[in-house]
This record gives sequence, C-alpha cells and structure tokens, in this order.
Amino acid sequence: MRLAGKRCLVTAAAQGIGEATARAFAEEGAEVWATDINEGKLAALANLRGIKTSRLDVLRDEEISQIGKRVGPIDVLFNCAGFVHHGTVLDATDEEWRFAFDLNVRSMFWTIRTFLPGMLASGKGGSIINVASAASSIKGAPLRFVYGSTKAALRKAKIRLSITSTAQSEISRPMKRSAIQAPVALTAQATRLIRNPAMTRRRWR
Ligand SMILES: NC(=O)c1ccc[n+]([C@@H]2O[C@H](COP(=O)([O-])OP(=O)(O)OC[C@H]3O[C@@H](n4cnc5c(N)ncnc54)[C@H](O)[C@@H]3O)[C@@H](O)[C@H]2O)c1
Repeated sequence: MRLAGKRCLVTAAAQGIGEATARAFAEEGAEVWATDINEGKLAALANLRGIKTSRLDVLRDEEISQIGKRVGPIDVLFNCAGFVHHGTVLDATDEEWRFAFDLNVRSMFWTIRTFLPGMLASGKGGSIINVASAASSIKGAPLRFVYGSTKAALRKAKIRLSITSTAQSEISRPMKRSAIQAPVALTAQATRLIRNPAMTRRRWR
C-alpha cells in the first residue's frame, strides 16, 4: 500500500491512461478522485474501493475551481487530459491549434493553480504529474505537428514532471491507445515517482 493516506485527483480518468492510473492509485491505498467529461464511462469506477468520481471538464476554469473547493487539499494531481491532432503543419487550422493548446497545456496551468496552494499550505508538499509524450521536444513524430508542439510546451514548462520520458525506457514497443502495456508501464512509473520523488530529481534534473 504505497499510497496509503494519499489523496489524489486524476483528470481524464474515464478510459486509457487516466483510468489505469486511477485504478492503480486506489489499489495502492490512495483516496482517488477520478474525473472526466464522460460521466457514462466514469460510472464504471464509481463503486471501486477508494475511488470517488466526478464530472470535470478541464476546459472550464469554473468547474476546476468548484471541484477544488469540493475535494480540498490533495497530495497528488495527475493531469492526464489530452487530445491528439493528426496532421502536418499544412493541415492544421487555427481552431485546432487553439483547442489542442487549451486542452493539453492551459488546462494543466488551471488545475495546478487550483491545487498547488493546498499542497504548499500542507507543509508536506505533493506531486504534480503532467502527462506529456515522447512526441514532443524529445522527437518529432510524423503527423503530430500540433500535438508534439503542445507536449513540448509541457515538457518545457517550469512546473512539470513528465512521466513519459522516464517511462520510455520501460516500453519496448510504440505506445498505442489500445495497448495495455503503455498505461501499466506509465502507471507503475508514476507510483514509483510519487513514492520516491528524490528519484526524479536525481535522474531528470
Ligand atoms: N495513449 C498513448 O499512447 C499516449 C502516449 C503518450 C502520451 N499520451 C497522453 O496520455 C494522456 C491520455 O491518453 P489516452 O490515450 O489514455 O487518452 P484517451 O484518448 O484514451 O482518453 C482521453 C480521455 O480524456 C477525456 N477528456 C476529453 N476531453 C476532456 C476534457 N475537456 N476534460 C476532461 N476530460 C476530457 C475523454 O473523455 C477520455 O476519457 C493524453 O494526455 C495523451 O496525450 C498517450
């Protein structure tokens, strides 16, 4: 029970990496708030031990503020919501660029500014995990012009802890949405980092 006593909030937890993370955090003893806009899918987590569910659209600052008040101080913020734009620089529209940056980058700024004060006030700190991607400043992936730009922005942000770069070495094949391996590897790494923040400082300073 490596996360016993920890309070965690996960965005985009109705499926994929967010869902796997919410489940893994709860299995490790955390009290988890699993949030998403897809309340139908989120319902599958509602009866699991250690998990509370709530609608949260991370594009809406007022919803983030409201859930911040409802949940109170947390130890772990797992910022997972993200959108993959498919195409080159010549395909992308202004609207797609704006939407991708709003969801993949600005939403994390908003959730951090809501939950970080509580972590600081607690005196015991906390962990903020912004899910980035290898398709970013690490490498240029084909047809990922907009997506890679957003994830590169995350990796370069001052407040960031990109689990993707550290998880890469554990994943021996390309990560796909349907691949069970990717969420499991990412989640295992995430829980290790939460348990031992010194590891992150040592390896990724
Ligand atoms: N899947 C991969 O191979 C992979 C690789 C590297 C990084 N990532 C990153 O991991 C994160 C999760 O990816 P995934 O493939 O597991 O996701 P997914 O596409 O399986 O699920 C996305 C979830 O986000 C939710 N969502 C969409 N808009 C939202 C909003 N406005 N507010 C709250 N929730 C919203 C959806 O309802 C859905 O449940 C993303 O940030 C993605 O960029 C994924």
